[in-house]
Amino acid sequence: MKSEDVLIRPMTIEDLDIVLATEKRVYLTPWSRRNYEFEVKQNRFAIPVVMEYQKEIIGHCVAWDLFETYHIATIVIMPEHQGKGLGKYLLDYMLSKATMADHALLEVRESNTRARTLYQQYGFRDIGMRKRYYKDGENAIVMRKELELTNSDEK
Ligand SMILES: CC(C)(COP(=O)(O)OP(=O)(O)OC[C@H]1O[C@@H](n2cnc3c(N)ncnc32)[C@H](O)[C@@H]1OP(=O)(O)O)[C@@H](O)C(=O)NCCC(=O)NCCS
Repeated sequence: MKSEDVLIRPMTIEDLDIVLATEKRVYLTPWSRRNYEFEVKQNRFAIPVVMEYQKEIIGHCVAWDLFETYHIATIVIMPEHQGKGLGKYLLDYMLSKATMADHALLEVRESNTRARTLYQQYGFRDIGMRKRYYKDGENAIVMRKELELTNSDEK
């Protein structure tokens, strides 16, 4: 699969059955339908997208384009499509959509080595920990990336 075969488009309400089913597969504490309806219909700061391959949804992401902070709220590639570079492609696309912020932030489970490695490759650095942030008691690592950096070594 090549990234040029992949389409990233705005998420719609019709996408939510698939998005929610994927969330349940990959997250211990998935977002609810109500969470997603808010992001798609009401939150004017949200950038909710899905990634398609051959007209099938294979991933999704929500970012919040806030004034000083660009927040990656969730990013998922379906398990059967992970490890093919698509997470990188989606993250790259989302970071290019920041309009106002001077830095990006995200929270990630302490045990999520794969995601933490991906974010490190994109210049995110650990800046703190939120103890017992997730409902099951796991800590979140807070990661930050300065967006004004144009040094390609950061990617
Ligand atoms: C995190 C996630 C979005 C990454 O997407 P992906 O398509 O699997 O990632 P990519 O194939 O683009 O790989 C990106 C980098 O992740 C790292 N990575 C990939 N597989 C890995 C593994 N098994 N172990 C450790 N790191 C791994 C590598 O650094 C890789 O870069 P490289 O190929 O140059 O070495 C995806 O695994 C996912 O949806 N996970 C479940 C949901 C989740 O945890 N989301 C993040 C919440 S904050």
